[in-house]
Amino acid sequence: MFACISCSKEDKNANNVSGGDQNLPAIAFIATQDGSPLLINNSLFDTPAAKEFLATGKNPYIGNAEAIESGKKLFQLYSCTQCHGGDAQGQTGPNLHGPDFHYAKNATNKGMFETIWHGTNGGMGAKGLGLMDPTDPSNGLKPDEILKIESWIRSHNPKLTGNE
Ligand code: HEC
Repeated sequence: MFACISCSKEDKNANNVSGGDQNLPAIAFIATQDGSPLLINNSLFDTPAAKEFLATGKNPYIGNAEAIESGKKLFQLYSCTQCHGGDAQGQTGPNLHGPDFHYAKNATNKGMFETIWHGTNGGMGAKGLGLMDPTDPSNGLKPDEILKIESWIRSHNPKLTGNE
């Protein structure tokens, strides 16, 4: 049993920088730009919701009123509104309500997380912690904050929770 867990763990953790909880099974993140492995330190997943997301790829904040409210504030705070509009309805950047996305993977919470964390090729910069501003490692969204933003974005389209 232990041997089994340990080999699948090694496999799945390969895309995550070590230093986090070694016993945590982790989903493997990939960049929206080119599908290459995306390295995110496990230790940044430091809330129960973020840990659950890291283990399952499901966002536990979907439908959670408090998370939706903070997600809305973060969407404003990080100027997402400037390009996507106050309701994420689309402005210079695309509408984020779905179900049609520039990148089909954004219909899932894991896919949208990767897009927000690491950006796209076509005008959407990385917003993940340490990636937003190369000169300031403390600038950017933590995984838990991205999950809250997602819960707010998804609240506009109850048919698409992203956890399907
Ligand atoms: C400077 C303008 C700008 C800002 C600020 C911005 N975005 Fe974007 N965003 C874009 C553009 C342009 C695209 C389309 C990119 C492409 O097609 O490659 C995009 C794409 C996206 C997508 C994928 C949409 C799809 O159809 O696949 C998501 C999700 C997203 N942005 C979320 C966010 C969030 C969350 C924030 C704030 C943390 C944010 N964006 C801030 C311009 C912006």
